[in-house]
Amino acid sequence: MTTAAALAYTGHTVSCIDRNPEVLYSLSCGRAPFHEPGLKELLADGLLLSFGGWEIFDPLADAIFIAVATPGNPGGDANLSYVETVAEEIGRRIDKRANTVVVVKSTVPPGTARRVEAIISATLETRGISTNLSIASNPEFLREGTALYDMFYPDRIVVGANNELAVDTLRQMFTSILEQTFKPPAPVPRPQNYKLPVFFTTTPDSAELIKYAANAFLAMKISFINEFAGLAEHVGADITEVARGIGLDERIGRCYLMAGAGWGGSCFGKDISAILHTARQFNYDMYMLEATVKANLRQQESIIKKLQSELKVLRGTTIGILGISFKPGTDDVREAPFIAIARRLIELGAVVKAFDPVAIPSCRRNHPDLTVIYVNNAEEAAKNCDALVLITEWDVFSHLDYEKLGNNMKQKLIIDGRNALNPKTLIKNGFKYMGVGC
Ligand SMILES: NC(=O)c1ccc[n+]([C@@H]2O[C@H](COP(=O)([O-])OP(=O)(O)OC[C@H]3O[C@@H](n4cnc5c(N)ncnc54)[C@H](O)[C@@H]3O)[C@@H](O)[C@H]2O)c1
Repeated sequence: MTTAAALAYTGHTVSCIDRNPEVLYSLSCGRAPFHEPGLKELLADGLLLSFGGWEIFDPLADAIFIAVATPGNPGGDANLSYVETVAEEIGRRIDKRANTVVVVKSTVPPGTARRVEAIISATLETRGISTNLSIASNPEFLREGTALYDMFYPDRIVVGANNELAVDTLRQMFTSILEQTFKPPAPVPRPQNYKLPVFFTTTPDSAELIKYAANAFLAMKISFINEFAGLAEHVGADITEVARGIGLDERIGRCYLMAGAGWGGSCFGKDISAILHTARQFNYDMYMLEATVKANLRQQESIIKKLQSELKVLRGTTIGILGISFKPGTDDVREAPFIAIARRLIELGAVVKAFDPVAIPSCRRNHPDLTVIYVNNAEEAAKNCDALVLITEWDVFSHLDYEKLGNNMKQKLIIDGRNALNPKTLIKNGFKYMGVGC
């Protein structure tokens, strides 16, 4: 959706095809079907965007982006059935006069661009036609919550293709982003000192692997600082200081060094599983990735341990949780640490109350079995609780009246799972404060 919006904003005519009528209805009413800052405003900007089913497919389009989901199969490998179905649809509908680049934007394991090409060619063969069609891999690096910013002001655009036409078409398509010649959209101003992005071309296999390596590295960085956070608690150090101290080294960098309740989201977990699955096909061990996942599970469990260390038996306690989405700025709850933590608390016999500024409807929809009591605000989450746990660092949680909140709690215990709150203020208000790694 963000690719479509950015391409339309920079002057292209874009048709967005989806098979889900609810998604289409929402978009045709100018509403994004998920929470993403700025998207609604951009959609209201009169862009050359249309929404529909396969009937709006343009058989002569210059480029066709495949951006469907690639969720994990139970065995950990990427489920490529959506990508393959779309490849078949393209083969069935493309015009023989087409001069098209099919761009795989979904996160897919190496070899998938080749597979997409083979499926389209086989389908064209059954139609008895051939076209001038090329394939490119163009992995997506956006972060939910800042998706438009990342789309308009990327660090790099990676294109994997074996053919000049594909590279040239994509370079041309992204020219105004590459050269920053567009007028910045109101909701996403251009940052000062922004450097033009690199247009990085490579083979499809390498482009596909770049995406997995990027996500695995970011997850590993978070797991790394979380592992040190656990040690910091033992030795009496402050992980926020440690992170600042190492992040000032440009070789390390400051980003993705925030200790907390663990990483989640639609991508890190499933992408690490998928690439581990690929490695296993070659009997190749990826020790660091296995440890990245293991450390993350321990990190989620560490929140439970902190509660147990103070409350002892959790059966019969009531725990208030602030934050459900896997990060602020989105209502995405896929693999959100909240889900694992809430499930474990319920398993241990606690009653869980939770509040999130935007993610309650998507949590209800995606986890109907989760017996959490959803409440309308942080005050209700805290009321009569034995402990309050912050899991998602929405800005609003930093500005609550904790004095008032504490007075309505059974016990003034707060676990700050993101080190987002001010410990001094909380301690002054009589709270027992526990952060992560400090
Ligand atoms: N969400 C992110 O932050 C992000 C970031 C980088 C890369 N990616 C990758 O982008 C891809 C899409 O992710 P997402 O989060 O947008 O997934 P999503 O599930 O939110 O959206 C995919 C859409 O594809 C539609 N679809 C599925 N099969 C279809 C078909 N046959 N015809 C038409 N429409 C079909 C679905 O209805 C759905 O609306 C994945 O491979 C993901 O790994 C996502």
